[in-house]
Amino acid sequence: MNVPPGPRGLEVTGFVRQTLPFLEQTARRFGPLSYFRILNQHIYLIDEPEWIQDVLVTRQHLFVRDTGATLLRELVGDGLLTRDEPAHKERRRMLQPAFHRAQVASYAEMMVAETVRTAESWQPDATLDIPAEMKRLTLAIVGAALFGSDFSSSAGQIAEVLQRVARRSRWLVPGLAILEPVAHAYRRFFPTGPSLFFRSERAELVSILAPVLDRRRRLQEADMFSLLLTELSDEDATNEIVTMVLAGHETTAVALTWVWYLLGKHPQAEECLRDEISRVLGGRDACFEDIPRLTYTAMVFQEAMRLYPPAPAFGRRPTEKIAIGGYDIRPGSSILMSPYVTQRNERWFVRPEQFEPERWRNSSIPKFAYFPFGGGAKMCIGEAFARMEGVLVLATVIQRWRLRRIGQNDIGMRSAVTLRPDGPLWMRAERVAGS
Ligand code: HEM
Repeated sequence: MNVPPGPRGLEVTGFVRQTLPFLEQTARRFGPLSYFRILNQHIYLIDEPEWIQDVLVTRQHLFVRDTGATLLRELVGDGLLTRDEPAHKERRRMLQPAFHRAQVASYAEMMVAETVRTAESWQPDATLDIPAEMKRLTLAIVGAALFGSDFSSSAGQIAEVLQRVARRSRWLVPGLAILEPVAHAYRRFFPTGPSLFFRSERAELVSILAPVLDRRRRLQEADMFSLLLTELSDEDATNEIVTMVLAGHETTAVALTWVWYLLGKHPQAEECLRDEISRVLGGRDACFEDIPRLTYTAMVFQEAMRLYPPAPAFGRRPTEKIAIGGYDIRPGSSILMSPYVTQRNERWFVRPEQFEPERWRNSSIPKFAYFPFGGGAKMCIGEAFARMEGVLVLATVIQRWRLRRIGQNDIGMRSAVTLRPDGPLWMRAERVAGS
């Protein structure tokens, strides 16, 4: 089969060693469609908005999720993040009400209250471990949205199990090409059998959630969790709650971490942000109705996710032979799309490496030149939740604290599943006068 140009031989080891720089260099060297092979895996990288839209939206029915979903399924079980059509559509329809505009709006007050609680726990001139603080905060927020305030500690317990799994998965991911057929065969014969890789962690998650589920079924409340419970069995509810904790806190935490890092490097942008927030809010805490007027704040969040998209790459696999850019692609190949690569392409963004929130004021980039939340039927269900959270957290923290960088070194990236800083990010908290 005729394949697109791409790195060959030992060069492809870069994919395992330094995934994102490797993908970026590959796209810049070989153009909008490139190809490389690792063991028996045929990998195509698309860096062309029109074709990304084609895969994620227009011809989405011809694709299924990529290999990572198999591993994830053994942890979170059969749920929204691991299902393919038609089962995915059915579950998405059930969960959508928890993310409707009016429902998301009802979380605004809680998001601000949790942020105030975190910000008020900081001491003047304290040195803050920013990634840890942001993770603690976003976990508290997703926990309160899911469980209400009385059970929010369950989110912390779930996150702790997930973190242990993430550490162990680093050893599993490189061998996934070999393990995947085994996992598929196992699931075919034992569709409801115990988890192949994470048996004890899975049992732990079930035991954390069983008493919560039991009590919540008896209380009828309007939080996200109660909405999830109405139509789901205990097992399905457990899977979806673990999914929401997994997908809903680390992503937003890394997005906010990069925002603080970028603001620390760009004091002028921080001043513009402060001006807007004090003009719109005049010293009071933000509420849902303020969001449309906090336009620069939203642009800061948007621009940080351009440079550092929390989900920097994801894939699909065609279920039949398809053609992209004049090349035939065999079924089962991996088709990678990378917000990191495309959002730094100078075809769409002037000075792509620069942090310039103003670029979003009158932006006219093609659809899918910017896609940190994916697209199509499997697009992030939490997008509105995360965008609102980003704006409210920024507005709440900025009014109380000025976060100063310690040291002037640039920080590198580490791409596990999310795009994190590759080292610590410490900042000093200075109290804003009058706050
Ligand atoms: C800045 C924050 C976030 C980013 C950048 C982000 C990004 C993404 C992306 C790129 C996908 C699609 C992956 C694919 O197509 O394969 C996705 C899916 C998903 N996200 Fe998010 N996400 C964020 C926040 C959240 C939040 C706050 C929640 C929940 C409270 C959430 C829940 C989910 C779920 C459940 C899916 C699977 C949707 C489906 O398959 O139907 N995400 N996210």
